[in-house]
Amino acid sequence: MSARDGFAAPKGATGKGAAPETLDPIEKASRDELAALQLERLKWSLQHAYDNVAHYKQAFDAAGVHPSDLKQLSDLSRFPFTTKKELRENYPYGLFAVPMRDIVRVHASSGTTGLPTVVGYTRNDIAMWGSVVARSLRAAGGTPDDIILNSYGYGLFTGGLGAHYGGEALGATVIPMGGGNTEKQIQLIREFKPTMMMATPSYMLTVADGLQEQGIDPASTTLRIGVFGAEPWTNEMRREIETRLGIDAIDIYGLSEVIGPGVACECIETKDGPHIWEDHFYPEIIDPVTGEVLPDGTPGELVFTSLSKEALPIIRYRTRDLTMLLPGTARTMRRMGKITGRSDDMLIIRGVNVFPTQIEEIILRHDSLCGHYQLQITRPGHMDELTVLAEVRHDLSDGLNDAQRSKIAAEVRHEIKSRVGVSADVHIVETGRIERTQVGKAKRVIDKRPKG
Ligand code: DLL
Repeated sequence: MSARDGFAAPKGATGKGAAPETLDPIEKASRDELAALQLERLKWSLQHAYDNVAHYKQAFDAAGVHPSDLKQLSDLSRFPFTTKKELRENYPYGLFAVPMRDIVRVHASSGTTGLPTVVGYTRNDIAMWGSVVARSLRAAGGTPDDIILNSYGYGLFTGGLGAHYGGEALGATVIPMGGGNTEKQIQLIREFKPTMMMATPSYMLTVADGLQEQGIDPASTTLRIGVFGAEPWTNEMRREIETRLGIDAIDIYGLSEVIGPGVACECIETKDGPHIWEDHFYPEIIDPVTGEVLPDGTPGELVFTSLSKEALPIIRYRTRDLTMLLPGTARTMRRMGKITGRSDDMLIIRGVNVFPTQIEEIILRHDSLCGHYQLQITRPGHMDELTVLAEVRHDLSDGLNDAQRSKIAAEVRHEIKSRVGVSADVHIVETGRIERTQVGKAKRVIDKRPKG
C-alpha cells in the first residue's frame, strides 16, 4: 500500500455502537503495523513539505536536518516546530504545497488577534477528511440509519462543512442547519426527528434550555447521541448534558491547521478520551517551555504532524492544547486525555494559574448549578479580582431565595479556594442572565484587566 492509499470511507457500516467488523482495517491493526505505516507516511510527508514549501526547506536547512535523516519515528524530534506565526507570515497561501488549481477548498480560522490562518485542501484531502469524520461518527455510535442535525457553523469555520462531509461519508442523513437560531433548531428536532446532533457542548445546553422553555422535556426527543467539540468541556459537563438530554455525549477533537474536526474522537463503548486517528495525524506531547518530547502519560502541549495531507502538510504543529497521550482502549490507536485548556487560555490571577475548566468542574459538581457560567477578571487597584457568575439549574430558577443563593455561592467559593487556590467572588444568578454564544465557541472569560 502506498502512503496515499486507503482514504475511501468504508461502505455499508451498519449496526449500533461500531461493531468491530465495520471498522477500517487500520483501526484493528497492531501497534507494529500502525508504526510501519506511520513511518512510511512520515517520510513521504517530510519530503513533500521540503520539496514543495519554501518555508519548510528553509526551516529544515536552518535546523540542519533533511527528510532523509528520519530513520525511525522518534527522529521526528530533530525537526523544527511550526506555529500559528508561520501560518500568519505566509498568509494566505504561502504554505500550500500544491498549485492553486489543485486546491478545491479553503477554510480560515477567525483568529482573535491579527490575521486569520488559512488552510487548503486538495480533492484527496477532502476525501481523507470525510473518511476520518465518518470514522469518528462511527466510533461515536453513528450508522447510516442516523439522521444528523449538524449545528456547527457553516462557512469559513471548519466545523460545519467538516462534520457535514463526514456524515455523508458515513452514509447518514445530514441536516445542514448550522449554528444559532435556537427556535429553528428546536423546530427541526421536533419535526425532522434527528437521532444525532453535532454542536458545541455549550450550545447544546442552550438548546436544552430552549426545549424546556417550550414545555418540552429535553430528554424526550428522538436524539440518542451528541458529538461535541470545538471548545474545552469537562466530564462534569458530559454528565450534565447526558442527564438533561438523555443522550450519549461524545467528545470530538480537531483543529483547522491539522485538518478540522475528526483528528480524534471518543468511542461510545468507553468514553475515555478521544482516540487519535494516528494513521493520518502523528501526535507528540512536548514540554511547552523547553520543547522536549515527553513520554506518554505526562501532561504537556499536543503537537501534530500530518502524515497524508497534500495541500497543507503540517510538520510538528504546536496546538497550544494541553493534555497527555494515553494507551488505546477501544482501538489500538492512542487516546488523548480531555483537553484541560490551552496554554494561551491560562489565566494568571494573583500569580495562581487558573484554567476555566477547573472552575467548570467545581460548578457542575454542585447539584443546583448548570453549565452556564462566566469568569470576569478585573484589577480595581493593584490586585486581580476574579468574579464567577454561575446560573442556577433551569428547574430551580424560580424557587431559590437569597439565603439559598448565598449558601451555594459560599460553597462554590470554598471549593475554588481549596482546589484551585484562588479567592473568587461568586454570584449565583437566574437562568438566562449569562449571555449565550449562539454561533461559534463559548466565551467563558471576560478579562477586563489593563493590558501590558
Ligand atoms: O474547532 C475543529 C472542530 C470543529 C473540532 C467541530 C470539533 C468539532 P478550530 O476552530 O481551528 O477547529 O479550533 C481548534 O479548538 O486547538 C482546541 O483548542 C479547540 N478544540 C477543538 N475540539 C476540542 C475538544 C475546530 N473536543 C481548537 N475539546 C483546538 C477541547 C477543543 N478543545
